[in-house]
Amino acid sequence: MCYDIGMNRDPGRQQAEGSRGPNPGRDANVSATALIQKRYLSQLARGAPGRRPADDAKAAHHRDGTAVCSQSKEKQMFAYKQVFCLGLALGIAAFAATAQAQSNPTNGKTLYLANCNSCHGFPNYPLVQKASVSSVLQTAIATKVPKMNIPALTGLSAANLGDIAAYLNTMVGAGFNNYQGLWWVPAAAEDGWGINFAHQGDLIFATWYTYDSTGKAWWLTMLTTRTSATSNVYSGPVYVDTGPPFNAFVGSGTPTAVGIGTITFTDRDNGVLSYAVGAGGGNVQQIKQITRFQLNTPGSNPPVCTYGATSTSALKQASNYQDLWWAASGTESGWGINFAHQGSQIYATWYTYAPNNQPVWLAALATQTTGQQFSGQLLQVSGPRFDAYDKTQRNPPLVVGSMTLNFTNGNAGTLSYTTNGTGGLPAVTQTKTVTRFLFGPSAATLCR
Ligand code: HEC
Repeated sequence: MCYDIGMNRDPGRQQAEGSRGPNPGRDANVSATALIQKRYLSQLARGAPGRRPADDAKAAHHRDGTAVCSQSKEKQMFAYKQVFCLGLALGIAAFAATAQAQSNPTNGKTLYLANCNSCHGFPNYPLVQKASVSSVLQTAIATKVPKMNIPALTGLSAANLGDIAAYLNTMVGAGFNNYQGLWWVPAAAEDGWGINFAHQGDLIFATWYTYDSTGKAWWLTMLTTRTSATSNVYSGPVYVDTGPPFNAFVGSGTPTAVGIGTITFTDRDNGVLSYAVGAGGGNVQQIKQITRFQLNTPGSNPPVCTYGATSTSALKQASNYQDLWWAASGTESGWGINFAHQGSQIYATWYTYAPNNQPVWLAALATQTTGQQFSGQLLQVSGPRFDAYDKTQRNPPLVVGSMTLNFTNGNAGTLSYTTNGTGGLPAVTQTKTVTRFLFGPSAATLCR
């Protein structure tokens, strides 16, 4: 019964995976939804696609050609209070120190939010680079940018500008990274499970697809918050959700806190996941090295993601779908689907519920068939229990149906699936309208 694990999850075979088909085991779906509904419902509601009607209307006074919002001409301000700030990259800090001695980035963040955020919104890379030297700021305010020649800004002292510059500097380093995407243990050392990060501002919603102590597909979620304005550490509670069966979803999922987890990033592509979890028949404290999962699409790497899209048009224009998606308008809070999108392939991990209301995840390696359509087999996997990983417990995926994704734009699409009655799941054919899950006001993360 044991599958040739090497085929799907060994380090070397990773390249072949893409062509081979979905590896259920290797993606995890985390459900963000459940958490969301309980704790962030109101935010979400606003975060839903409809929540930024005003964005487009807000003119972009700025066009900074940011990588993040290059598609959007307007930059809106982010009201998001906890702007990403930065893990201070030492080199950068050193540079900042030369530029302005004794500057205080923490105070700079406060000043940025109070004085700059309204026009510039969440700092973006080009702006950060320009503003990282306080003299540039001084010139912008005094002469170069007429719109900045206002009392609120001309009243800022040289020390204030130094602090702001120092704060923006901290964003150039690792702290500015966006970690959105699918992660796993490096070199496929623990293939079969993975964790998806939806990263918006200072929040990371993680959906972790793994197996319970009986080897059954099982998922957990984590809603983590950056531990400080300058850290690369995100921490928060771990939940297990139960909810209405996927084929008859009415109501919402119910999260239960079962532990705590922390993700510490060492750079944009590497980190450490540590957790203490008591659930699923297990009870454990563990630390796992993690890295980005690379789909095997020839010539394509994981996309680079940036938080900062504030306009509806920017969302719609996105052609990379990597993100956590859920039922449009949040109507079915409790389940969601993560897309890891590289080139012509999308590795989808769908976290939802079985007829007995227990969490179950399904996966699909969907390949582009036409322009905005992707499809593949729907797989269910069983494997090594989360608290005692053992590669020999990996099982071959069970094909439980098929899945097709049809995107109408970068923020809307349909998830269609047919289940064949195996795997303890009822045989159904259904279509759900889905949209990106926006939980970190007031912007979204886009990848490209
Ligand atoms: C009233 C709106 C407004 C406020 C408030 C504001 N800016 Fe600007 N800023 C602008 C506009 C408009 C531009 C020009 C944008 C462009 O050229 O696309 C600009 C340009 C800039 C530039 C580029 C200057 C250059 O040399 O090209 C920097 C850096 C900058 N702002 C930083 C800041 C910082 C830091 C703050 C807060 C202390 C701030 N701005 C506050 C509107 C504003």
